[in-house]
Amino acid sequence: MQYKITSYNEEETIELAQNIESEKFPNMVICLEGDLGSGKTLFTKAFAKAMQVADNITSPTFNIIKEYEGELKLFHIDAYRLSEVKQDLGIPEYFKKRGITIIEWSDLIEDILPKNRLVIKFRIIDEETRGIIIVPYGDKYIDLCEKVL
Ligand SMILES: Nc1ncnc2c1ncn2[C@@H]1O[C@H](COP(=O)(O)OP(=O)(O)O)[C@@H](O)[C@H]1O
Ligand SMILES: [Mg+2]
Repeated sequence: MQYKITSYNEEETIELAQNIESEKFPNMVICLEGDLGSGKTLFTKAFAKAMQVADNITSPTFNIIKEYEGELKLFHIDAYRLSEVKQDLGIPEYFKKRGITIIEWSDLIEDILPKNRLVIKFRIIDEETRGIIIVPYGDKYIDLCEKVL
């Protein structure tokens, strides 16, 4: 099953993040794929704001994993950098900490992703247009998509 959406501007991508956030649950994992500038961090910022994270979300590129306090904990992971460092950062532990994990460039670490997850793929169509494909894996994520998409 997959959902295809077109986002015609930043605001529509923000609304998508808000809608998904409204059905968040502990241990939720959201995997973001797509080229540089396609909207992965914008989506994460909007999601974080919706879950009352007060801190400014910055790209985790240099830290690889950033942790924020909100209605639940938010773990923001950049797998692009992760694939370059060889050390074991214990990523699978984050999926069990009862927070929300959002992973940019998740396709680079597919082998350690949980079976159940929400995958969101962004494609740049033009300056303001993004093709978005959402694929839910597992009943909870399928239900979530039925509710909010
Ligand atoms: N429809 C849209 N959805 C998401 N971002 C958009 C859209 N239109 C324009 N943008 C712009 O594209 C850029 C996306 O950047 P960013 O979220 O940092 O990308 P990524 O994290 O995928 O590299 C932002 O500057 C944002 O304002
Ligand atoms: Mg980014």
